[in-house]
Amino acid sequence: MDKFRIRGGCRLSGSISISGAKNSALPCMVASILTPETITLKNIPYVRDIITMRRLLEDIGATVLTPELRTYSISASRVEVLRAPYELVKTMRASVLALGPLLARFGKARVALPGGCAIGTRPIDLHLAGFERLGAEVWLESGDVVARAPASGRLIGAEIGFDKITVTGTENLMMAATLARGETTIHNAAREPEIADLAELLNKMGARVRGAGTPTIEIEGVEALGSAEHAIIPDRIETGSFLVAAAITNGELEITNCCPRHCAAVIEKLRETGVEIEELNQSTLHVRRAANGLTASDLTTKEHPGFPTDMQAQYMALMTQADGRSVIAETIFDNRFMHASELRRMGAKIRIDREKAIVAGPTRLTGARLLASDLRASASLVLAGLAAEGETIIDRVYHIDRGYEKIETKLGAAGGDIERIRESVTSPLSTGAKS
Ligand code: EPU
Repeated sequence: MDKFRIRGGCRLSGSISISGAKNSALPCMVASILTPETITLKNIPYVRDIITMRRLLEDIGATVLTPELRTYSISASRVEVLRAPYELVKTMRASVLALGPLLARFGKARVALPGGCAIGTRPIDLHLAGFERLGAEVWLESGDVVARAPASGRLIGAEIGFDKITVTGTENLMMAATLARGETTIHNAAREPEIADLAELLNKMGARVRGAGTPTIEIEGVEALGSAEHAIIPDRIETGSFLVAAAITNGELEITNCCPRHCAAVIEKLRETGVEIEELNQSTLHVRRAANGLTASDLTTKEHPGFPTDMQAQYMALMTQADGRSVIAETIFDNRFMHASELRRMGAKIRIDREKAIVAGPTRLTGARLLASDLRASASLVLAGLAAEGETIIDRVYHIDRGYEKIETKLGAAGGDIERIRESVTSPLSTGAKS
């Protein structure tokens, strides 16, 4: 397993370019199952979850070509297996997104039920109840979820109201409804930019989706979908992570190829703490810490357009360097504070009280040996390592590789002292090079 060695204390400077959004690319890739024609996706990030999704598509019989860097041409003209196996689902929960498209086009699907995962209990009951509303029969068999469309083989449009907002649930149902007979309305839908991006692709394929990005999405089912070409939106969580990287190292960065509009809540919160962020144009941000330092500010994670849970860990790392006490409330997932104990090992003063973390700052962080636990928690440890005195070794960085494209290369090019210690020559993301 690869590790990162970080020598803290370098101020970041220069420019960092943002990759395509993992959480948009994943549903867009799986949407290709909805049609026998070719879907071409551009700006695909080079991260491990994408490789896992590619494997899933190839496993069921689809062909995935990469005609040029960051572009995938996916053809699901021949699908032989209507199933996502446990080996894939256990490494990437987003594999459950295969259910909707398989069920919609082939009338049947089988996907292993995701087990417990590192960020708390994450059931898929809302996805399944939604499929039932569309007329499917859903049952459990040997640890797999099996879903079957009504006798006609086609789902039936319906009113679906989510009790709780779910991002992949909204995506799964939206994809399923595109080929259903009649109209579907999804109430209390997630409003994340990734939902609107997927809807844009679906509409290019010939679907009739209205209202994506609002709490009510209306989908008029069509008989068939066709080919389309689509560029994935920039990754707003990667953008936010690099904004924090500049602030925590007292550096100055230009963040390019991003979408500031999608990061509004993060930008606003960081500004409140004394981070100066300027929007140079529609795709470029300039960031640096204000001369008088950082001030603590409380935070509550919320569904979009609120502050994203996927930036909570990085914000906590930043608050260890801010003057004062900040209360960070996590409202989306339980058990998403695993980074706190690792940050404490670096000298941070953090107390956990149920769903709240109370950070007392500023504290001087010192390098330590750390264990990455999930994707965003690991990113927060990298940020803390950059700000710490001395050397930090982060173990199990495969968590970071799931969702950050070559983070060590990007940070290294901006002056960060971070290197990958390669332990497996077969890892597709390993460079082994000091960057
Ligand atoms: N929930 C249910 N039942 C369901 C579905 C969700 O109770 O059927 C609950 C979850 O347990 C959670 C809440 O609803 O408490 C929200 O979960 P959601 O379904 O929105 O999460 P997700 O779709 O599984 C996506 C992202 C996550 C991100 C969350 C929240 C993808 C592939 N994943 O997950 O991204 O944290 O939305 O914004 O889009 C990451 O990239 O690191 C990551 C974890």
